[in-house]
Amino acid sequence: MAGTSDGVGEAPGAIVDGRPPRGSVPGGGAAAWVNGWRLTARAYEPLWRHRSVGLLTRGAFSTARELETLLAWTAPVRGAEVLDVGCSAGLYARTLAAEGANVHALDASRPFLAEAARLAARDGVRLTPVQGDAHALPFADDRFDVVVVGATLNELADPRRALAEIARVLRPAGRAWFMYARRAGPLGRPLQALMGWGGLRFPEPADLDGWARDAGLVPIRAEERGAVVIALYGLGRGAPDVAVTSPSPGWEGPTPRRNRRFNWERRLDDEG
Ligand SMILES: C[S@@+](CC[C@H](N)C(=O)[O-])C[C@H]1O[C@@H](n2cnc3c(N)ncnc32)[C@H](O)[C@@H]1O
Repeated sequence: MAGTSDGVGEAPGAIVDGRPPRGSVPGGGAAAWVNGWRLTARAYEPLWRHRSVGLLTRGAFSTARELETLLAWTAPVRGAEVLDVGCSAGLYARTLAAEGANVHALDASRPFLAEAARLAARDGVRLTPVQGDAHALPFADDRFDVVVVGATLNELADPRRALAEIARVLRPAGRAWFMYARRAGPLGRPLQALMGWGGLRFPEPADLDGWARDAGLVPIRAEERGAVVIALYGLGRGAPDVAVTSPSPGWEGPTPRRNRRFNWERRLDDEG
């Protein structure tokens, strides 16, 4: 494990350095290089993030619906310790912090973290930006109630190792949310092949299931919309209420606001 960092004693919004020793983690491709540009960090959310999910699902899923589902599936988050892995400009981190979570927002890219801190200050929410690597998370074991991973899986050189790290930092009843782009159909495959040259990968749900299982995470629910998959896993260790559940049936439509904060254990019981 890399050195641990809790952001304690740091100025609000200051970027905590949690980088692992050089050469101890697998490197990224061209995508990692582009992510290091300030321009990418500034343009990412307004130009791409708010449109990407709609484009990839041909309108079947929107970013607004994605965030509603994120809150519903990870509820309750008020007072919870949350880690956003590969936070970019911090869309998930801000959304969860606005609901009362204590959020650490981790990314390899310093410009992205600076942008995440800027947007958090703009929105009046508090988060702790941490520069670090998903393959060697700079946190102690059993540190977080919830880990969220939005499309970072598509950029990781060794997802199996990152999954093991996520399981390590989760508390016994912790849960992990993933959103990622899966392998496209025949029409999208040439574009994905091109993106593969830049270091992007497009896993199948079965790939994630396998990495998660090896890490001790059990599937709770998953939904697929076009090329986008969202999935929730729980740590099997010491959490029978999580371990007994199975993936939910298909898409249930947008989550009504009044149902957003329902009790996690009760919800799993209802579904079981
Ligand atoms: C597709 S973006 C994620 C978007 C963000 N989660 C969201 O929902 O808007 C991928 C992010 O993961 C970061 N990243 C890629 N590889 C990483 C690694 N090994 N460790 C930490 N961050 C990484 C990149 O710098 C980039 O900001």
